[in-house]
Amino acid sequence: MAIYPIIIAPDPVLKQKSVPVERVDDEVRATLSNMLETMYRSGGIGLAAVQVGILRRLIVADVHWRDEDPDSRQPLKLVNAEILWNAEEDAPYNEGCLSFPDQYSEVIRPNEVKVAYLDEQGARQELHATGLLATCIQHEIDHMNGITFVDHISRTRREIILNKLRKAKRHGDFDGHVHGEHCNHG
Ligand code: NI
Repeated sequence: MAIYPIIIAPDPVLKQKSVPVERVDDEVRATLSNMLETMYRSGGIGLAAVQVGILRRLIVADVHWRDEDPDSRQPLKLVNAEILWNAEEDAPYNEGCLSFPDQYSEVIRPNEVKVAYLDEQGARQELHATGLLATCIQHEIDHMNGITFVDHISRTRREIILNKLRKAKRHGDFDGHVHGEHCNHG
């Protein structure tokens, strides 16, 4: 098991589009395990491979785990996830992201989605997600298309967040950054 360093915005890698996985093999399974470990270590609820510099369509998520209770973990590993259907009804959520430490903003997204993906054995699965899981999966699928949560908010608000991160980077705040302890999202 390895912990990956997380890429912090602004960074051109986060705007790259990830490519589909052609075969779910041991390497893919190892990457998913490492991503999950990185996510737990960082206090996140979701992580896309692009956030650790791997441009493949891989997502891990676990929206209800609690740090003090290892039995609360219910990890999801999604390969080539795509949205098949989304509800017309929207819901707001105050989103954050492990690539945007300590930055949050309200994003409005459909409150329910149906997603197709490949599991760790390469079998096709479908998932009907509601609530926080629906938000999380849409946020992670966005990542694989080079889109981050700040692309859903006003330009003014986005610039405020990015400038804060630029400044923090200049100060070396994220040097050796593996995790943002106060982040609660992917
Ligand atoms: Ni994120």
